[in-house]
Amino acid sequence: MRHLPKIDDPNLLVGISTGDDAAVYKLTDDIAIIQTVDFFPPVVDDPYHYGAISVANSLSDVYAMGGHPLIALNIVGFPADLDKDILGQILKGGADKAQEAGVLIVGGHTIDDPEPKYGLSVTGIVQPGHQIANAGALAGDKLIITKPLGLGILTTAHKNDLLDQETLDEIISIMSTLNKDAAEAMIEVGAHACTDVTGFGLLGHLKVLLDNSGVGADLYLENIPIIEKAWDLAKEGMVPGGSARNRLWIEDEIDWSTSISDIAKSILMDAQTSGGLLISVDPKNEEKLHEELKKRGVLGSTIGTVTKDTKINVFDRPA
Ligand code: CO
Ligand code: CO
Ligand code: CO
Repeated sequence: MRHLPKIDDPNLLVGISTGDDAAVYKLTDDIAIIQTVDFFPPVVDDPYHYGAISVANSLSDVYAMGGHPLIALNIVGFPADLDKDILGQILKGGADKAQEAGVLIVGGHTIDDPEPKYGLSVTGIVQPGHQIANAGALAGDKLIITKPLGLGILTTAHKNDLLDQETLDEIISIMSTLNKDAAEAMIEVGAHACTDVTGFGLLGHLKVLLDNSGVGADLYLENIPIIEKAWDLAKEGMVPGGSARNRLWIEDEIDWSTSISDIAKSILMDAQTSGGLLISVDPKNEEKLHEELKKRGVLGSTIGTVTKDTKINVFDRPA
């Protein structure tokens, strides 16, 4: 990204300089468009579920900005010699998920590709000034996450035929869940900053958010929701390539409490697909946010506190 020219335009409210989930461009005093794109190769064998997960993930970047997605375009790579019914099922899974979100898929583009890829370019809206970006976290804020961790480890185990059907169903359900309700709860309460937890893992996305806000955080492992099976499968080496890259990038930037195990570290840096929102909220609104999430049947866990000094500390539990 540093090779791209610097943009200086007063209507660009959120651009590429803050590592945000999507760009926000002001059209009028009342309306700004949000633009984002995401696509990836299959994370589960079933084409319908893969399509649904990919769309939930693509829409998530608009939700993470506190916006409302409206229309989208399919982005598809598919092998010319593979059964077209499979592609049909991928697109059907995606279309059903978009419909659930109230988003119109209005077109798209397909190319011949040895490995299938699917995702969306999404256009949404937000009221200018009401976007919830990375760079707004304040010392004292509470950090709340809305989906459990371990999705990268578990999809890797699935690829290696090591995942039981029950856990596979569980992660498909988690990854297919739209962050729409979580975002509505966040918008209702108001938040200082937000991102979704995807390829950089919890600690990677948290670090981007904190760095751009000029603050740090204390995290408590005990409070971080983790899918139980991820512990065993991480121990068996089911760590995706993206997580290993995250680790090289951030492990040394974190102050780990000596009791944090190597397995726990890999889970906290695990590359997620279609993970939850990570919300930085004023402490006086923490309870209200929990209530609003609960009302909508969304998981909400306070995993730590934003601090003035710019380090990330990971502890077992609050002192
Ligand atoms: Co994102
Ligand atoms: Co994204
Ligand atoms: Co954001």
